[in-house]
Amino acid sequence: MKRLSFASVLFLFIFFLVSCHNKADLSIAPPFPSQSPWLKCSHDTIYFQNSVLPVVINSCAKSGCHDQGSNKHEIVLDSYSAIYNLVKPNDPLSSKLYTVLFSFGQQRMPPGERLSVNQEGLIYYWILQGAVNNRCETPCDSSHITYDSTIIAIVQSWCTGCHGGSNPAYGISLTNYDQVKTTVNNGRLMGAIRQETGFYPMPKGSQLSPCDIALFQIWINLGMPR
Ligand code: HEC
Repeated sequence: MKRLSFASVLFLFIFFLVSCHNKADLSIAPPFPSQSPWLKCSHDTIYFQNSVLPVVINSCAKSGCHDQGSNKHEIVLDSYSAIYNLVKPNDPLSSKLYTVLFSFGQQRMPPGERLSVNQEGLIYYWILQGAVNNRCETPCDSSHITYDSTIIAIVQSWCTGCHGGSNPAYGISLTNYDQVKTTVNNGRLMGAIRQETGFYPMPKGSQLSPCDIALFQIWINLGMPR
């Protein structure tokens, strides 16, 4: 009897610790995130098309996960309406899209690596600001374009979730300067992001903004500076 109650007290204590930990993670708002430096719209607004959609496409709509072909649990996360279904506007803590980042075990998404604090912040503040389908379109700041200042940020937010790791999509890895340059030089990159006929449209399931595509082209015209 005594033993049993000790066991249950221990169990309750551990349960308490675990649930506190969970709540602690969730209830602390992440710091306000930064967005791509060339977005010249309001710094106080999180833009769905520029900043949130790439995180979700790149981390969730991968092959075998929530893309059109795989459709895990009938959730396909490649559009505003699909993503909006997991959201309660203005209330991140009641939004599956946010809370699932802090779940335990197999429930936590994405499986494997956690999102960065900045990416968690993008989702949190986008929901807090009403989860609208907004986009920062103009003006596109195209001065001083180098790989390190501009291209790496586009590729990391839109491409490396699939084109990275030990088994990159289509055998194309885009995780460093040389790999991106090689893909440009073999003629596949611009056709894919311009979604021309004869190319697989990239990023799979979505589209870069005209600004992002223009930045790529300017960078190439400049001779792909590092
Ligand atoms: C959700 C996963 C995913 C994302 C994100 C993604 N790709 Fe792909 N990519 C693929 C897959 C899978 C293929 C193979 C073709 C197919 O199945 O569509 C591919 C093929 C390609 C190809 C070959 C195209 C061709 O016609 O030869 C290029 C180039 C490419 N991707 C570049 C990119 C770039 C650049 C980005 C970011 C702007 C990107 N991809 C984002 C999954 C992805």
